Amino acid sequence: MSLQKTTLAEGYDRSALLYDQLVGASYVAGVRRLLAQHPVPPGASILDVGTGTGIALFEAMRQAGRTSLAIGVDLAPNMVLRATAKAMSMGLPARFFVADAEHLPFPDATFDVAICSSAFHWFTDRVAAAREMLRVLKPGGRLLLVSASAPCGWEWFVAMMAAARLVTGRLDALQVPNLPSPEAVAASLMAAGFQILAANPTMHRTPMDPAAMTGMMSLVVPNWNAKMDPITSSRVAELGNRILSMKQSSGGNYTWTAVEIVAVRPLLSLPSRAF
Ligand SMILES: C[S@@+](CC[C@H](N)C(=O)[O-])C[C@H]1O[C@@H](n2cnc3c(N)ncnc32)[C@H](O)[C@@H]1O
Repeated sequence: MSLQKTTLAEGYDRSALLYDQLVGASYVAGVRRLLAQHPVPPGASILDVGTGTGIALFEAMRQAGRTSLAIGVDLAPNMVLRATAKAMSMGLPARFFVADAEHLPFPDATFDVAICSSAFHWFTDRVAAAREMLRVLKPGGRLLLVSASAPCGWEWFVAMMAAARLVTGRLDALQVPNLPSPEAVAASLMAAGFQILAANPTMHRTPMDPAAMTGMMSLVVPNWNAKMDPITSSRVAELGNRILSMKQSSGGNYTWTAVEIVAVRPLLSLPSRAF
C-alpha cells in the first residue's frame, strides 16, 4: 500500500472511536437525501465503499428492510472493527472487510447498489475506484455517491493554516486537501463507464466548532500529522483557541460544499478499447 494510503488509514484508525461523535452524523444527511429519491429495494445486495463506521450502510439497510447481502469495506482496520461491533449490537446482518476501493475483493456483477459516502474525495485514483465500483455492480445497478467537493471548508483551511503557522512557526505546517470539483467527480465516474442519472451540487453554512474540528483533523489528516508531529493535546487546544479567535473573519460559519450523484452501470456497455 502507498505511504499516502497507509497514513490515511492510520489517521482514520485513530479516529474510529470518536468518529460518530465528532463528524459521523453530519455526513449522513446527503445519503438520506439520495436514499429518499432512489430507494433501495427490499432484498437488494448493497456494498458501501469507504464505509467508515458503517453509517451509510446501516441507513440503506434500514430503508430496504431486508437485504440479500450487505457489505462495507474500508482501508482503516479500526473503522471496520467499529462498524462490525455496531452491526452486532444493532442485530443487523452487515459484514465489514478491510479493502482498498481501488481493488475491491468481489467478483464482477455482485451488487445491486453501491454506496460511497464522503470517501470518494480521499481516493488516490478516483477513476480506478469508480471502475471497481462499476465492475462489482450488476448491469443496471446503481451507485449513490456523496463526495466533498472544492472549495469545501475553505474558511477552515485558511484559519487552520494561519493558526498552524503561528503555533509551529512553519509555513508548510498544513496543506489543503486536494478536493475535486463536482464536475471532476462526475467526470471520473463517466470515465469509468457510469451513466450519470442525477448530479446535485450542494452547499450549506455550518457553525465552526474549533474543538471538534481540530480534534478530528489532528487525528485524521495525514499532512497535519506529518508536519506537526508530535501532536500533543495542549497543542491541539492551542490551535483550537487560535482558530476560535479567527472565527470573526468568516462570521463563525464555514461553507460545506459537496456533490450528490446517482449513477448507473449501463445494461449494455461497449468494451472500452473497441476502436
Ligand atoms: C470521511 S470518512 C466517511 C465514512 C463513511 N462513509 C461515512 O459516511 O461516515 C472516509 C472513509 O474513507 C476511507 N477510505 C479512504 N480511502 C479509502 C480507500 N482507498 N479504500 C477504502 N476506504 C478508504 C477512510 O478510511 C474513511 O473511513
